[in-house]
Amino acid sequence: MKADAPPIKTSSLTSATLSDVRDRMFESLRASSLAPMINEISRAIGGGKMLRAQLILTVGSSTGAQREDLVRAAAAVEMVHAASLLHDDVVDGGMLRRGAPTFWQEKSVSGAILLGDLMVCKAVQLLEEIESRRLGGMLVRFASEMCDAEVEQELITRGIPGDWEKSISMVRRKTGSLFAFAASAADGTNGQRADVLTEAGYQIGTAFQMADDLMDASGKTECDGKDLGQDTARGKLTSASATDAEKDRIRHYILELEKNSIEMLAPWPPVQTAWKQYLKVHIGPVISKFMS
Ligand code: IPE
Ligand code: IPE
Ligand code: MG
Ligand code: MG
Ligand code: MG
Repeated sequence: MKADAPPIKTSSLTSATLSDVRDRMFESLRASSLAPMINEISRAIGGGKMLRAQLILTVGSSTGAQREDLVRAAAAVEMVHAASLLHDDVVDGGMLRRGAPTFWQEKSVSGAILLGDLMVCKAVQLLEEIESRRLGGMLVRFASEMCDAEVEQELITRGIPGDWEKSISMVRRKTGSLFAFAASAADGTNGQRADVLTEAGYQIGTAFQMADDLMDASGKTECDGKDLGQDTARGKLTSASATDAEKDRIRHYILELEKNSIEMLAPWPPVQTAWKQYLKVHIGPVISKFMS
């Protein structure tokens, strides 16, 4: 930089935060008929752990991606995720979410379905406004995978005996998919690094859902602000609908996925460091808590 260059505004260089992401989610829903009840629905919108947004922000800070694109992608993925939970609680008969009665319990089933639909549309709209990248279509592709696996879990595999390959494939598509989107969006390019990050996202999302399935099957009635045991009660095939011996296999597999996701990023040291940070500070402790 030349010594006499004008000072750069630091606001454009500061890292994006979860609060920026929440603001973007609220802003997008404020431009809808929901504006008068936005505070009432804030738990459903920005009230979770924001793990997918955090992945985008943490890893995105190492890739050179545009700050505004990262914030939009993070807001969009959290909105699709939040919508999936609104619908999932109806489907699973969930009574407690994020430490409070579920939306369908508090308002209505119709309200939960419709709010979920609106959030998906708003999420895609947010990404369509980014001209430089085709993130909207990409989110739709990953979200389709998630919906397909949810449909499969409800209509196709329900009540059938567990099978390792089938359940892993379902978990990967059901929850790995949005983490894969997040990792890919954090990259900001379409190159080989983005492909590897996408796979790392699938792996960490799979590990996360497997830990969540272990928690659901643990016999505890409540944890992480939600009621447990619904999947078993409804005969859902999950990665933990298995014998105790297989549960040990699941625990090993989760650790292997975490390790693998780090190793595959070795060719890109700054990105690998950011990934490790995400695992160590954000998702790793949650996975450990779910498994304990
Ligand atoms: C819950 O996801 C559903 C699963 C995929 C296990 P999160 O645990 O990320 O939910 P929130 O957003 O923090 O509530
Ligand atoms: C839901 O899985 C994952 C989605 C893609 C919606 P679960 O049914 O296990 O999620 P929780 O345990 O209710 O949060
Ligand atoms: Mg479910
Ligand atoms: Mg559920
Ligand atoms: Mg669960």
